[in-house]
Parts: sequence; C-alpha cells; structure tokens
Amino acid sequence: MPAATSYDMSGMTCFMSGATSGINEQIARRFAQAGAKIFVVSRSPEKVEATIEMLRGEGAEADGCPVDARSWPDVEAAVNKCADTFGEIDMVLAGQAGNFPAGAAQMSANAFKTVIDIDLLGTFNVFRAAIHRCKRPGASFIAISAPQGKDPWLYQSHVCAAKAGVNMLVKCCALEWGIEGVRVNAISPGPIDGTEGMARLAPTDQARHEAEQALALKRFGSRDDIAEAALWLCSEGAGYVTGTILEVEGGTTVGDASK
Ligand code: HXC
Repeated sequence: MPAATSYDMSGMTCFMSGATSGINEQIARRFAQAGAKIFVVSRSPEKVEATIEMLRGEGAEADGCPVDARSWPDVEAAVNKCADTFGEIDMVLAGQAGNFPAGAAQMSANAFKTVIDIDLLGTFNVFRAAIHRCKRPGASFIAISAPQGKDPWLYQSHVCAAKAGVNMLVKCCALEWGIEGVRVNAISPGPIDGTEGMARLAPTDQARHEAEQALALKRFGSRDDIAEAALWLCSEGAGYVTGTILEVEGGTTVGDASK
C-alpha cells in the first residue's frame, strides 16, 4: 500500500456517503490515515457502526449515522451533524450506489426510479446539503461515477442514465461553485478487486482471466488505486482540476487489449 503519509489531511473534515463497504470504505480508511476526521453515512445502521469502530480502532476521529441518501431530510440532518461535530466540511464524497442487471423492457418503472434516486438524486442531496456547510474557498467534492456514465452497457439502462446524470451534475456544480473556490469532480472506477461489482462481473477464474486480458494494464485495479485518485483530487496538487470525470479504469475504455 502506498504511504498514507504522502498526503496531509490533518484536522480536515470529510463527509462520506456509501462509505461502509467496497471502494468507498477504503477511501475512508486512507483519508483517515492521512489525518482527516471522517463522518460516514449509509443505509445500514450496523455497517455504519462497524465502519466507525474500524476507523476509530485505527486511530481516526470518526462518527456517522444511518442515512438513506434518497431522503433530503436525512441527508441534511447528517451533514449538519457532521459539521457541528467536526467543523466545516473540507471534503465530500458521494459514493452510494444501487445496481442490478435488468433489461429496459423488463424492469418496472419503480426499479428504474430506485437506481436513479439512489445514484443521482442521492448525489444531488449530498452535494446540495454539503455546499451550505463546507469550507469556502478550498472544499473538494467527489462523486463516484462509473464507466456506464459514458458507455452504454447491456441490462444497465438505469445505471447508465443515473451515472450519466451524475457526470453532468458534477460539471454543473463545478461551473456554479468554482467562483466560491469549491472544486467538484467525479471518479469513474474500472474493474476493482474486492467489490460487489467485480464478484458479479467475473465470478470464475476463467472469467477473471479473460476480463484482465482485455484490459490495457492486464490487471484489475485495487481499492487503493481509487483511494489514491481521491486523495490526489482533494489535494492542493489538484487545485486547478474541477468538472473532471477522472477515469481510473486500467484502460477499460481505450479498447479491447485481447484482440
Ligand atoms: C429487476 C429489481 C431487481 C432486479 C430490485 N428490483 N432488484 N428489478 N431486477 N434484480 C426492483 C424491485 O422489484 C422494485 O420494483 C424496485 O426495484 C425497488 O426494489 P427494492 O428492493 O424495494 O429497493 P431497495 O430496498 O431500495 O434496494 C435498492 C436496490 C438494492 C438497488 C434494489 O439492490 C440495493 O439496495 N442495492 C445497494 C447495494 C448495491 O446495489 N450495490 C451495487 C453497487 S456496485 P417494484 O416495481 O417491484 O416495486 C456498482 C458497480 C457495478 O454499482 C458494476 C457492474 C455490475
């Protein structure tokens, strides 16, 4: 793992949604190792509690509460609790996601709306609440997008529409909030080991081998590959970067490297 000390987030406050598992949990750990105070929210009270305990066990200042990102009152209350507890917010990560494979002709309107609401409305709620309690100038907002936000995928019309919306929301917020010194970006992760998505996409050794061969870098990414991108986006080194959808995808979208 890269040195946690290469970035200094001492005393900084980070609000993170969907940060109780997978990629976002690792981002929370790495931000905490860099000295940030972490406020985590997700739907499951048990997962929120476990993540807080894990972060505290590693020496971090951490708190959080259960939140359904689709609920504006939930999100607003959580952001206020974060800022009241740890001080004005320096970094925001909107990472909650919902996904299942389903054809557009087969899924119900409510199934489509569920993913739009979790991914897109949830990101809007987190961003809208946090902009009123964040440090200006200097705050950095990140949304977790996906390759589906740019490329159409089979049986992913709901996710593709939601993540394309997230990408555009990021750009619009960057445009509006840049004048206040607030940067807004997205990370689009490729196939990342240790995530629910990869367990579904490459469930066997053969499927994994074929998937890796198709990548320019011939390997799946690690959760730290994404955490490194998030650390950089929140650093002064990325001080002139806003409105960007940063693809950390191992060359996924460059083309099929197995042909
Ligand atoms: C068709 C489905 C469905 C499925 C649910 N629905 N699963 N339709 N195929 N497999 C429909 C339901 O029938 C219902 O519609 C509507 O969706 C809402 O379902 P609920 O279960 O009531 O919703 P909810 O409890 O809010 O759960 C949301 C969820 C669930 C998205 C359905 O899977 C979830 O909570 N997921 C969170 C974790 C997650 O998905 N993580 C994946 C992120 S990974 P009706 O009409 O019956 O009312 C990622 C990268 C993936 O994003 C990479 C590629 C695979």
